[in-house]
Amino acid sequence: MPHFAKPGEGSWTEHYPELSTGPTNYDDSTSPAWYELEREAIFQKTWLNVGRVEQLTRTGSYFTKELDAAGTSIIVVRDSDGEVRAFHNICRHRGNKLMWQDFPGEEVSGSCRQFTCKYHGWSYNLDGTLNFIQQEEEFFGVDKNDYPLASVQCDVWEGWIFVNLDPTNIESLRDYLGGLGKGLEGYPFHELTQVHKYRAEIGANWKLFIDAFTEFYHAPVLHARQAVAEESHKLQSYGYEALHYELDGPHAVVSSWGGQSPPKDLSMVKPIERTLRSGLFGPWDVPDLGMDQLPPGLNPARHEKWGLDSFLFFPNFMILVWKTNWVLTYHYWPTSYNTHIFEGACYFAPPRNGRDRLAQEIAVVTFKEYGLQDGNTLEATQRMIESRTPVKSFPLNDQEIMIRHLHHQVERYVREFEEQQ
Ligand code: FES
Ligand SMILES: [Fe+2]
Repeated sequence: MPHFAKPGEGSWTEHYPELSTGPTNYDDSTSPAWYELEREAIFQKTWLNVGRVEQLTRTGSYFTKELDAAGTSIIVVRDSDGEVRAFHNICRHRGNKLMWQDFPGEEVSGSCRQFTCKYHGWSYNLDGTLNFIQQEEEFFGVDKNDYPLASVQCDVWEGWIFVNLDPTNIESLRDYLGGLGKGLEGYPFHELTQVHKYRAEIGANWKLFIDAFTEFYHAPVLHARQAVAEESHKLQSYGYEALHYELDGPHAVVSSWGGQSPPKDLSMVKPIERTLRSGLFGPWDVPDLGMDQLPPGLNPARHEKWGLDSFLFFPNFMILVWKTNWVLTYHYWPTSYNTHIFEGACYFAPPRNGRDRLAQEIAVVTFKEYGLQDGNTLEATQRMIESRTPVKSFPLNDQEIMIRHLHHQVERYVREFEEQQ
């Protein structure tokens, strides 16, 4: 069960003694050997979000996902019973990648009646069974029933599709997502079908970008130029304090205020935001999603200034739910100990008119500006923590509790994995 820290009862961090309040190091972000352990202990063991059901509109809709950190590529498909399934993207004949187009390293999506290998034409039904072997009579006692696609555990929570690469995993997706997942259930994610996506190759360890998005301590400083000058000075003098933090198993959430949708004074924001009635906090004219009330996990402090909750579902999936009825997601897919692919997606209700559409666009490009500023810093951080400087120990403040928690959980998974070997 999650335990609740409350303001007025000391710091957030001190409510979680396992985290300590001492300085930390980033040895887990600079070591190729440690990264290899993370791949096995985390990315091949935990539930990973790979997409949403709306990407699979009908029977035969599929997409592939490159999961470098887990050492595979998968196909996710809606089969003829309407069920979402996942398979390793490898042909059973001689190991060719089954679904790809011009570049074998790139992801593809589309719709098909069956999966046919480009090499010798073996074909598989949408449920993974092998249905055709070219010149079957030339083979030596090969039974098609013995060569289905290798399946991957797959489950759907609130429209989010997850896979688990560990064939021995027995923990259900819902159990894994725990109390924080349960508290979000019922949110109308399926109404948010206007989607804008970004993808970036980042020269930093995957955890460093999560660190940057699980604390807002940096926001008044790093993103100072996003606000008008006077507002920016005010923000820097206030600093940042969240409304609430909660840690639940390997997952965590930060709940934040959000006074800019709309701002109480229009001079606080840039002219383009005034004109389009939108900005980082989303469009000011909020769409009706038919919610009588928020799911219990949102705005956990029940604070009147609430603006957004930012959930980290371990290891690499973040959902930000904004008061203004839109959602942002982040994924961080490691490609080596010091590189990863970042994916950011903005989910809105379909725009009703051109004004809505422009309001959404300005939120999307504003998010991109912030993301670029964050990403830039990470590469500079990676350079230095990897250098031979003697500086190896770094303090974290109370608003950086989720950083402590993430690195602590990574270590816990790796150590438990090592003990089992
Ligand atoms: S490798 Fe796929 S049919 Fe031969
Ligand atoms: Fe940021």
